[in-house]
Amino acid sequence: MQIKSITPHERFLTIDWVEGGTDNFHYVWLRDHLPDTTFFDTDTGERLIDAHTYLFDVAPEDVSSDINGDLEITWPGADQPSCYLAHWLYANRYTNDTLAARDAFIPSPEAWPYQSFDEVPRYDYAKIFDEPQAGFELLHNFRTYGFAFIDGAPAAVGVVENFANWLGYVREVVFGPVRDIRSEPNYDNVAFTSRDVKPHIDGSNYIYPYEVQFLHCIENGAEGGDSDVVDGFAVAEKLKAVDPAAFDVLTRVKVAYRIGAGEHDLRHSAPVIGLDREGELHIIRFSNQQRRVLSVPFDDVEAFYAAYGLFSQMINAPENKMHFRFAPGEVLMFNNHRILHARDAFKPDTGRRHMQLATADMDMVDSRLRLLVRQLGRNDDLDLVLPREP
Ligand code: OGA
Ligand code: ZN
Repeated sequence: MQIKSITPHERFLTIDWVEGGTDNFHYVWLRDHLPDTTFFDTDTGERLIDAHTYLFDVAPEDVSSDINGDLEITWPGADQPSCYLAHWLYANRYTNDTLAARDAFIPSPEAWPYQSFDEVPRYDYAKIFDEPQAGFELLHNFRTYGFAFIDGAPAAVGVVENFANWLGYVREVVFGPVRDIRSEPNYDNVAFTSRDVKPHIDGSNYIYPYEVQFLHCIENGAEGGDSDVVDGFAVAEKLKAVDPAAFDVLTRVKVAYRIGAGEHDLRHSAPVIGLDREGELHIIRFSNQQRRVLSVPFDDVEAFYAAYGLFSQMINAPENKMHFRFAPGEVLMFNNHRILHARDAFKPDTGRRHMQLATADMDMVDSRLRLLVRQLGRNDDLDLVLPREP
């Protein structure tokens, strides 16, 4: 990119590009991105100067384009102009279109295109960590549909750690870095029995429940123990369509969740349907088994139970569940804020069932996705171009 001409206005300037088009940049924005080694640490990109020392009454002394078609601005008090590279300015222009395209390799959630689990694509464990395209497709699919399914992993311990380490690291939770799920005589969670576990998210009792989960099947030889996944976002959308008032109640009334006794006492109260600031679905905090005493204002009690009953019925309805049976060596990677998971009861005297579960932060999925995008040669990095040493 090259600058054809610059038109200064009172608080911003307009650039005409040689390649066509025009863009506006505020002086205050330009001052805040000063490409100067005194302004940023050139190794880390961290800012060195307090913003309040330069953000007021910003006006350049001179603006021009240099011989390469880059922007030069002389700020008051500076002995020489600062150079803003044209291609960096162009990549970071802030029009509505470019803002929407920012971080475009991290996809937004979409409805499932699958009618049954047979249609769910399978990713080959052997390829994911070595082939950037395979890793990219897995994570892209996971981000879009809230889960992805991997087969061909060893039917042995250690697989879930490999996934978490590929992303970065495990997020350790109350059960430890990795959870072994088996029927045990001394259990502190219904999952460690042979009982059924109805659709739920894990960690409902955390202020910020964990996001990314890897559920790996090592043995599934007992009668029963089949699995289900439910798209919590899709069911919440259905609830909003059939009963908007019930949806509203579930976004507002706080429900208490708690795990366990013993050494810890982890509890948190929050609405079942969590929305973000834009009003988009953010988390479905549904875990009937971990729900504790309802402590809400008198006037909310009946409205809550009516709405919760309806949502529970919809979550458990066969048409909203996708049923499957894990085979040893298969891994379900799922977004625990969106996807509810369940398993049927099993008969431990008919064979062994052993699953492992590990947790990671969504930040690490997105970090790995960005690195893979760069490895694949599709550069989406519009971050600060650090100033060159003089
Ligand atoms: C759990 C769980 C599922 C399974 O441990 O929270 O839901 O298949 N386990 O055992
Ligand atoms: Zn669970």
